[in-house]
Amino acid sequence: MSDTKYETHEHDVLIIGAGGAGLRAAIEASNENVSVGLVCKSLLGKAHTVMAEGGVAAAMGNVEPKDNWQVHFRDTMKGGRYLNQWRMAQLHAMEAPDRVNELESWGALFDRTKDGKILQRNFGGHKYPRLAHVGDRTGLEMIRTLQQHGVHLGIKVYMECTVSRLLVDGDKIRGAFGYWRENGKFVLFKAKAIVIATGGIGRMFKINSNSWECTGDGQALAYLAGAELMDMEFMQFHPTGMVWPPSVRGTLITEGVRGEGGTLRNKDGKRIMFDYIPELYASDTAPTEDEADQWLRESTSGTTSKARRTPDLLPRDIVARAIHSEVKAGRGSPHGGVFLDIATRRSAEDIKRKLPAMYHQFKELGDVDITKEPMEVGPTAHYTMGGIRVDPDSQESRIKGLFAAGECSAGMHGSNRLGGNSLSDLLVFGRIAGLHAAKYAKAANAPMLEESEIKAAAHEALEPFDRTEGENPFLLHDELKDAMQVHVGIIRTEPDLEAGLSALEKLKVRANHFKVEDNRHFNSAWHQSLDMRNMLIVAEAMCRAAITRKESRGGHARDDYPEQDKGHWSKVNVVSRMSASGAMEIAEVPLPPVPAEIQKVLEEG
Ligand code: FUM
Repeated sequence: MSDTKYETHEHDVLIIGAGGAGLRAAIEASNENVSVGLVCKSLLGKAHTVMAEGGVAAAMGNVEPKDNWQVHFRDTMKGGRYLNQWRMAQLHAMEAPDRVNELESWGALFDRTKDGKILQRNFGGHKYPRLAHVGDRTGLEMIRTLQQHGVHLGIKVYMECTVSRLLVDGDKIRGAFGYWRENGKFVLFKAKAIVIATGGIGRMFKINSNSWECTGDGQALAYLAGAELMDMEFMQFHPTGMVWPPSVRGTLITEGVRGEGGTLRNKDGKRIMFDYIPELYASDTAPTEDEADQWLRESTSGTTSKARRTPDLLPRDIVARAIHSEVKAGRGSPHGGVFLDIATRRSAEDIKRKLPAMYHQFKELGDVDITKEPMEVGPTAHYTMGGIRVDPDSQESRIKGLFAAGECSAGMHGSNRLGGNSLSDLLVFGRIAGLHAAKYAKAANAPMLEESEIKAAAHEALEPFDRTEGENPFLLHDELKDAMQVHVGIIRTEPDLEAGLSALEKLKVRANHFKVEDNRHFNSAWHQSLDMRNMLIVAEAMCRAAITRKESRGGHARDDYPEQDKGHWSKVNVVSRMSASGAMEIAEVPLPPVPAEIQKVLEEG
């Protein structure tokens, strides 16, 4: 298979990934009058952003006037257990309301309050109702709006195209190399600046809420190009994925169900979360059902919320582990989850109006009528807090001209993300990345590329065709998912993580011997073999970082170090980078110092 011919396209700014972050970056770069190319692995509009269903977090104060950026900032830092890059959390909290209003001015239709403002709902870890939403289809409405706005700006879109290598000159970006999924032909993008916005990594876990594109491509491409990955030990398991039927296990059930009053119960009908309120949240979490319900009534009607919040809406790491513990203790539901009840809490009419996608999802996939029966739910790998290490003010990585935004970048969420902060993150940092990429491109020279490195990228991609025998990439993917689920899952220990690392080492060796057959047209085995390289890189980074961090914090829970450390591990982020020998090396980098005025904001809470 020696046809290494390729077509060439050239842009000032190339965006890789067309979810919310990529689209928002493309819009901003385009506004700067540079030429913008947008590459998507799937079809435009079919982005994983649509799976953030319950809303976009922004302190607009429409339901609770006391809300403001400082409260949102505090909630975000507390949710991330103070490992967040404070500057990102500050920019995010300050800019999110403008980004939501801007979306509305571009045509997004949000649910309304009685007096016509954008309606906001409760979500885990947010002190006030803060999530602007469209029923339970918020991500979908955002993508629709961004896409419609973006295409009218003249952005050139390359659909069903996968990038397999970034091309760099020392520490400077110059382009990207990839292939068309449809016919397997190669394509070269020359670019002065690149924004990576490829989303998450969930497909390396057996039970996950992610769509097929989420294979850690951007994180791995950046790593191979010389960028650093940070906070990779922190994986968010969303507490409520479907557990039944098996074919749809892991599919997301929006936190909006609990935001609308849904409660988690065990097989005995007992509300479970009152038994899992941690010290950090004890003073603002209701200890009884009556108090919890009082809070829900007050907060959703915009009256003063002195009452303490329901523990069903504690941050996701806490709720996911609580469900895990109930199941382990034998108090789970028949298929290994717990029950999520909205039927006894809201009228059928309310449920169908506020949660239409959930109603249809359960009716069609599980034959369950959620207006009459509880849902069976359990944790599902949903989001990675870790990703490409970037400068908070520009989103640039340590490779000049290489930027990252959205889930594939790190820093904003610390060790645990609050629900709804992903949609606001991708709007805020998509804009910042697009702006700075355009500025960088305006000052940069036209990229020069060596034919030899392009050929090397082509040969690397074609290797699996050249073998007469070798490994099946689908079977190896199954083994990877099993290894990650078992060894690097929701509860971790040193021996488990070491076993996981050794399994990954073996898989890495075998992945050098993939064999695929037939030609390059729609060859999904070939695509899988190339995606596997990326998943194995991010899996190794997660496993090594998890071994390194000897404490429990946010999305990293160690049975052998169950406490959150107040010393060393409160002060460092864990970083993975490629050493001169090509091996992965781990470093600990100190958190940036928090300026006095920001510390004051934190302490006011
Ligand atoms: O539960 C949800 O609707 C997911 C939202 C998010 O991950 O932010």
